[in-house]
Formats: sequence, C-alpha cells, structure tokens
Amino acid sequence: MNKQDTNIFKAAWTYDEAPESTDHIQIKKIYELFIDGKFTKPIKGNYFDTINPATNKVIASVAEATTEDVDVAVKAARKAFGSWSKLSGKERGKYIFRIARLIQERAREFAVIESLDGGKPIRESRDIDIPLAANHFFYYAGWADKLEYAFPNRTPKPLGVAGQIIPWNFPLLMAAWKIAPALATGNTVVLKPAETTPLTALKLAEIIQESGLPKGVVNIVTGAGETGASIVNHPDINKIAFTGSTGVGKYIQKAIAGTNKKLTLELGGKGANIIFEDAAIDQAVEGIVNAIFFNQGHVCCAGSRLFVQESVADLVIQKLKNRMETLIVGNPLDKNTDIGAINSKKQLQTIENYIKIGINEGGEIYQPKCKLPKEGNWCAPTLFINVSQSHRIVQEEIFGPVLAIQTFRTIDEVIEKANNTPYGLSAGVWTQNGAKIFHLTQKLEAGVIWANTFNKFDPASPFGGYKESGFGREGGLHGLKPYLKFE
Ligand code: NAI
Ligand code: MG
Repeated sequence: MNKQDTNIFKAAWTYDEAPESTDHIQIKKIYELFIDGKFTKPIKGNYFDTINPATNKVIASVAEATTEDVDVAVKAARKAFGSWSKLSGKERGKYIFRIARLIQERAREFAVIESLDGGKPIRESRDIDIPLAANHFFYYAGWADKLEYAFPNRTPKPLGVAGQIIPWNFPLLMAAWKIAPALATGNTVVLKPAETTPLTALKLAEIIQESGLPKGVVNIVTGAGETGASIVNHPDINKIAFTGSTGVGKYIQKAIAGTNKKLTLELGGKGANIIFEDAAIDQAVEGIVNAIFFNQGHVCCAGSRLFVQESVADLVIQKLKNRMETLIVGNPLDKNTDIGAINSKKQLQTIENYIKIGINEGGEIYQPKCKLPKEGNWCAPTLFINVSQSHRIVQEEIFGPVLAIQTFRTIDEVIEKANNTPYGLSAGVWTQNGAKIFHLTQKLEAGVIWANTFNKFDPASPFGGYKESGFGREGGLHGLKPYLKFE
C-alpha cells in the first residue's frame, strides 16, 4: 500500500466499537493470600491496589505478603512436598490435566481479567495468553508419568520447594510456565505474581482449589519487590525461577550465591529482526509489526532492533509507516484494538523518557497520527531511523512500542551488529533463502531465532537466553531439567 491507498483505506473503513462484555467475570473487592489451599489474611494486615491501566481506576485490593507470610507459605509447601513428591506421576498428571481443562472452561473470564488488570488487547489475551497457558499445563501434565523416558538411564528426583517470581507482561502465561513443569516433576511451589497484575494468578488459585490439588502444593503470595526478596532469601527454598528485569536478576544471583539454591533467570532482551532484500516484503512488514507492537512491546523477546538490507530499506520503511497508520490504539477490551494500554504509569514514564533520549541523541522519530484516549496510560507506536549502534535506544531495553531501525549491506555486517548487545534472547530472520537462515541461526547469539515469523510460542519448544538475558530454559523437555536432580 502506498500513502494514497492508506488514505482511501482509512476513509472507506472506520470501525465501530466492539467491546468484550465484562458481565460474566467475577472479581472480588479484596484478595487474600493463597496459602495451604486457603485464602488467608496477611499477618501484618497490609493491602495494595491493583489498577486498570486503561483508566487508572482501582480494580481490587490485594494482600501484601511480608517475610512472615512467605515463611508460612514455604512451610505449607515443604509439608506438602512430603506426599506430593511420593505420588505417582500418573496421579500428579491427573491434577495438572484438570487445571488445564478448568483454564479452558474459564478462558473467557481469564482473558477479560487479564486485559482489565494489565492493559493488553483482548484479542491477544483471548487468542494467545490464555490458550497458551492452558497448553502449558496440558503439555507438562503429559510428562508427569514419563520422566524416566525423558531422561533414560537416569533417576530424576524433584528438588523440593520452588520459589517463583514472575513479571507483569504475560501474567497468567508466566504463572503457567513456572507452575506446570514444577508440578509435573513433583516439586511444590510458592509463586509471586507482579504487583500490577496479580488478578489472573489469584483466579488460578481459585481453579487450583476447585481442582482438588492437595493443599500446600501451590501457594500464591502477592506483593512487590520486598515480597519477592523474602522468597529469594528464605532458607528453606530449593530453587528460584525468576522472569523479569536484568537488574533484579543480578540482585537475585548475588543474593543466593553460596547457597544450595538452584536458579533459572529469564531476563531482558533487545532482539534483532533482520530483513534481507530477498524476503517476502509484505509478510516481513507484518512480522515487524508483530515483533515490536505485540503486547505494547512489553515483551522480553520483542524485535526491538530492526535491521533492513539497504537495497530495500526505503521500501520497507515506507510500507511499515503505512501499516502503522492503520494500527488501532485504545480500549484493551475492544476486539478491534491492536495496541492496548501501557501496563503502569511507571512503565509509561520509562518509555517516554527513552523516546526523549532518542530524539536528543539525533534519531529521527515517526509516529502515526493515531488518537490516544484521554484517561489511562498510552503510547503511540513509534519508530526511529538515523540511529546507530551507540545510541541508547539501540542498546537498552525500552519494553514499549518503540522500534530502532538500522540498515546493513552484508551478512557479516548484520551478524556483527545484531550480536553487539549485552542481551541474547531472541532474533528473527526474513529471507527466501534457507541456507542464509541456517548460517544466521549458527552465528546469532540468541536463545530463540525465528525464520520468516516472530513471537511464536509453543509449550514444546524451549525458551531462554544467553549473556545478560539469563540462563536456563523453560518449555519443552529442557524445561523439566531445572526442577530435577539426578541420582
Ligand atoms: P522487575 O524485574 O522489578 O519485576 C519483575 C518481578 O520481580 C515482579 O514480580 C517484582 O515484584 C519482582 N521483584 C522486584 N524486585 C525484586 C527483588 N529485589 N527480589 C525479588 N523479586 C523482585 O521489573 P519492573 O521494575 O516491573 O520493570 C522494569 C523493567 O524490567 C522493564 O522496563 C523491562 O525492561 C524489564 N522487564 C523485563 C521482563 C521480562 O519479561 N524479561 C518483565 C518485566 C520487566
Ligand atoms: Mg493492574
């Protein structure tokens, strides 16, 4: 589409609002901690608000777990470990399958709550987050009674109590990534959701109660960084699994150094999305949009650095700008919405600050003329050209809908540029040439490399990083290993 086509398109098609109904969901006014199979008041009696980032209105009040509450949760998990770890894999699998099916049954409710609490478009929570979360439980339920086949000639044993700390960008999905493999391998869990998005994890707690899972096997404690630190520092925890910022990841690694705790870290990224001149250009443009604007760019594996081969750069950038003109930013519950609300005021400030830095450092900014709602936290999709490797917006993780575009001439040049980052989580390669794809997948330092697609996830596929993006893998057979020891 050229610019003229876009205008015709816009004139001919305006979308009526198509909001998803919220009638069918149940949200309590106050949420307690989920410990030992019951909802329990926090010992010190403190609560915090979780808000809807599209309106900045309070949705619910949520208990804040202190060190004392975390201790009670860890004790419940330790006690439950005794019998849970002795249960046959087949029996453990039954509970995990049940949780998966209950998520599917309540998928609509989960999707709406996820979008309300975190700001992501309902289309994404409905079609991606919730189905994938159920799939993770289904997938790992299948492994529960097959561990000796997964690791032939070895005797896998669970570790004990896993402390799991998750971020706000994929709240239910990250809970599934953490809980499902831990249960399949016979561990028990103390999980902390992020403070801006606790509601779907608490809904999951209700489902866990309904599933009849023995009490204490999964405990969910809410709170912010201090609660997370209480989990990390608890002496009776055997393993920490963390997804979040590189800064906190480094802190956790230091905190548990010298202890017997095992650790997996899934941290930030600055993914390179590489478009060669022989790529299918229109598909690649869709891929660029999906790579950076999916979930408002709050994605650790986002393709936030775009590398376009010089011969097609003008064409790709023009087509990308045209496509950005058609993106709909606004109400996360509207089924037409492409880009929802930024998760928190704090995150919006971070993103806006990076946009200023980009402009001050001499980058050329482009944002489509989209209307942003008055209330709430919003950021228009943004791209920068005329930036180079030394720009901060090229080096640092922004975690928002902001793309930095550079060009390249040769394969060697783009490999060097793509790898010139402290991160190593994801990359994408767009070309019709299979040999080029294989060459790049060997040379790019990234845990996940997509070919002619981006941001595709599957429970059977391992996910994780190199360098400052962390270590350990989640998903697939690889995802079982961090929860096992071998005798
Ligand atoms: P964060 O790393 O502070 O939060 C992630 C989780 O860690 C939350 O549950 C939080 O309560 C917990 N946490 C915070 N401090 C902790 C501590 N000292 N000990 C244990 N747990 C702790 O991330 P934040 O501040 O919300 O976002 C800042 C930046 O981090 C973002 O702009 C983005 O660049 C990056 N980020 C990356 C994510 C990823 O998926 N890799 C997810 C979230 C943020
Ligand atoms: Mg919230």
